Amino acid sequence: MSALQKLAVFVVGFAVAFYFYSTSDKFEPEMLNGKRVIVTGASSGIGEQMAYHLAQMKSHVFITARREERLKQVVAKCLELGAASAHYVAGSMDDMAFAEHVVAEAWKTFGGLDMLILNHIGNTSFGYFDGNVDHIRKLMEINFLSYATMTVAALPMLKESGGNIVVVSSLAGKVPTPFTAAYSATKFALDGFFGTLRHELILQNFNVSVTLCVISFIDTDTAVRVVSKVIRQPPAPKQECALEIIKGGILRKREVYYAYEATKIPLLIRDWAPEYLDSLIRMNYNIENIKNPE
Ligand SMILES: NC(=O)c1ccc[n+]([C@@H]2O[C@H](COP(=O)([O-])OP(=O)(O)OC[C@H]3O[C@@H](n4cnc5c(N)ncnc54)[C@H](OP(=O)(O)O)[C@@H]3O)[C@@H](O)[C@H]2O)c1
Ligand SMILES: *[C@@H]1O[C@H](CO)[C@@H](O)[C@H](O)[C@H]1NC(C)=O
Ligand SMILES: *[C@@H]1O[C@H](CO)[C@@H](O)[C@H](O)[C@H]1NC(C)=O
Repeated sequence: MSALQKLAVFVVGFAVAFYFYSTSDKFEPEMLNGKRVIVTGASSGIGEQMAYHLAQMKSHVFITARREERLKQVVAKCLELGAASAHYVAGSMDDMAFAEHVVAEAWKTFGGLDMLILNHIGNTSFGYFDGNVDHIRKLMEINFLSYATMTVAALPMLKESGGNIVVVSSLAGKVPTPFTAAYSATKFALDGFFGTLRHELILQNFNVSVTLCVISFIDTDTAVRVVSKVIRQPPAPKQECALEIIKGGILRKREVYYAYEATKIPLLIRDWAPEYLDSLIRMNYNIENIKNPE
């Protein structure tokens, strides 16, 4: 690619970014007032921050993850922050019966549901793919099949309320990145499944929105611990990320991009100059800090 072409990609990227910023719908925190919301993976990271934002907006919050002690603390803080109500159920999303159970408990508690935020991920290996197909299978269950299972269970309630499905994905679910083979596969699967579901809900005139969130490197404890030695780019703040996801969901956006430039610009380059994008991505890694496979 010539310097001129690189410049053109840059300028068009910014023009499009500015256009999408300036035409976004108006968000009001009152939109979440009294809404009944499930947030998965809410014992830490972005999910925990989403629970706090929802609490401040006076939603009914229903959270889940494995660590019960952490969930209790998050529920207590939600109540302090002004949640209309706050509840939790603890368990692991590698068990599809548990995924269904979470939705059933929310139904018992609220008698309905306005928003389903699917956010949890299983423990993710970060490094050269080591041939471990069991890790792929396990992550597929936690990161993808439990999302489908919860959606199936929640759809009747969401159809009744004209609600929102919000799926937290990653730039690695749109553009393959090194050291994330299994993770990236699960996130690509979400795009395919929920993209089809969005079409079919619209074709059948069901008023349920599907929002896929394309997220770049965020400053959660897990992500910083796992990738900060390897990824050169600085992480974006989890509080703001959490708010952008909620906004996109309630505004019924098709996709959310956060951090905007770190996700939207690679996606703009992706279909025009995939090899250039791949080389930019590889340049963003300090590979001397990654263990070589045996
Ligand atoms: N942080 C980033 O840089 C980044 C970048 C792109 C996309 N994202 C996406 O953002 C979302 C949240 O990531 P995060 O960084 O906030 O991660 P995190 O802080 O590690 O949170 C993950 C959550 O999932 C729960 N979890 C883990 N294993 C589970 C299991 N087997 N069953 C049920 N829950 C389980 C964890 O709680 P327990 O351990 O208590 O179960 C925790 O609440 C994910 O979808 C991730 O892919 C993050
Ligand atoms: C998560 O996976 C890493 C290796 O990828 C491993 O070192 C760690 O013990 C695992 N943690 C849990 C809780 O399974
Ligand atoms: C869909 O549901 C939302 C939220 O309940 C509502 O504001 C909107 O008017 C509904 N749209 C249609 C076409 O029914």
